[in-house]
Amino acid sequence: MFKKTHVLLTLVLLVIFSLAGNVLPGQHQAAAKEKHNKTLVMGTSADYAPYEYIDTAKGNKIIGFDVDVARHIADKLGYNLVIKDMDFNGLVPALDAKRVDFVMAGMTPNAERKKKVDFSNTYYKAKQLIVTNDPKIKKIEDLKGKAIGVQLGSIQEKEAKKIADKVDNVTIEKRNKVPDLVQEIMSKRFNAAVIEDGVAIEYLNKNPDLSSFVIPGSASAGSAVAFQKGSDLTEKFNKEIAAMKKNGELDQYAKKWFEPKTEKKAEKKSIVDFSTIMPSIPYILKGILTTLKFVVVSILLGFVLGTILALFKISKVNVLRWGADAYTSIFRGTPLILQLLIIYNATPQLTGYKIEPFLAGVLTFGLNSAAYVSEIIRAGINGVDKGQREASMALGVSYGSMMRQIILPQALKNILPALMNEFITLTKESAIIAVIGTTDIMRRAQIVGADTYRYFEPLITAGIIYYLMVMALTVLGRMLERRMSRGD
Ligand code: ARG
Repeated sequence: MFKKTHVLLTLVLLVIFSLAGNVLPGQHQAAAKEKHNKTLVMGTSADYAPYEYIDTAKGNKIIGFDVDVARHIADKLGYNLVIKDMDFNGLVPALDAKRVDFVMAGMTPNAERKKKVDFSNTYYKAKQLIVTNDPKIKKIEDLKGKAIGVQLGSIQEKEAKKIADKVDNVTIEKRNKVPDLVQEIMSKRFNAAVIEDGVAIEYLNKNPDLSSFVIPGSASAGSAVAFQKGSDLTEKFNKEIAAMKKNGELDQYAKKWFEPKTEKKAEKKSIVDFSTIMPSIPYILKGILTTLKFVVVSILLGFVLGTILALFKISKVNVLRWGADAYTSIFRGTPLILQLLIIYNATPQLTGYKIEPFLAGVLTFGLNSAAYVSEIIRAGINGVDKGQREASMALGVSYGSMMRQIILPQALKNILPALMNEFITLTKESAIIAVIGTTDIMRRAQIVGADTYRYFEPLITAGIIYYLMVMALTVLGRMLERRMSRGD
């Protein structure tokens, strides 16, 4: 007899394990040590070395100037600090939606932002540079007919617009992450980008092909802490910032982070070089656990829900049938990424519940997979010989036990390959959750790319990991199939 109970038990244990251990790295960085019982959640966009970034060779913590300053102030005020990483253009909305208590991301106060959030006094000043791959570009006028990259939602966007107003035929390209801008310049898709001096310096040092100049008349980009409107933290932070300015602590942190780390390199790197990302491979590997947890919980949710839907679809009650059909049609008829973004972003807007990325992802994938699984199971049930149903009915077996003991087990045997297919798809598609910031394999590979300015190597590494996971699933599927066909 095929040990269904054992398999079920293992699966249930897996779910419990994954739900219980669901502490997402990056989100609970400063694992609340109960030193104080108050916690402050800081929002940042960790793509901005040396303000805030992840040094993937050293671990998975967000570090940098802003983080040191934030930690210092939080400590002084008696709070634990928790850091949440997101895209820069999501930071002001996150404050607005009260997902975070404050934002430190090298953010410059401007009139537009002040409509939505409050700012502290500035704690650091920066200049706006043009960083370019073209030695012929030495002044603003040389940008005629060129493409300039900027980070989406940053004040650099405005700076680029000013240039486009003055110089003919300038196109402005936007990207979510600053390292992506640099990558685009390196690949010569853009000719230049607007980047702040403190951030540009490392890129300039590491890449001998890049040069830069200060944009004349550009706004000085001071960084300030952003708060929810009316927050009483603003005053408290201002006091601490003033104290740090006075006693030189702020300067010390600035010195620690803004002094260039690398010497300007003269030689060029080889095209493919795994040695640069070697130290970061463990960082990518850690994503396996997140991806696995995610996949297991989503598959289970999809399977349970899909079975229920399948039973609705073959039921004699019209409402159930229509409901289940409509459900499938909606979830099959719209893009998965759209469903994910709706669940993640619209839930807080509609209900006020700040759904966590992991939960939003599991819900989306579970609900979506249920639509497909229900079709597979329905086909399986219909495929079981009609005679069996008639025989059980003639013997007076109840509908419930006929389904559970006779029809479903046989259906399951027939549809196993199709189900395995669905699970494999889900495993691969799970890479989509990277967009909402879950640190799965895909997201980690992207972060390593951003950190090392090399994309091929980390992406190939992620590809190999996904491939091996799918292979493992395939083998598991074959084993199950063999066991089941050996007959119970
Ligand atoms: N200072 C600029 C601004 O406020 C850019 C900041 C970008 N920060 C980041 N963490 N990516 O718009």
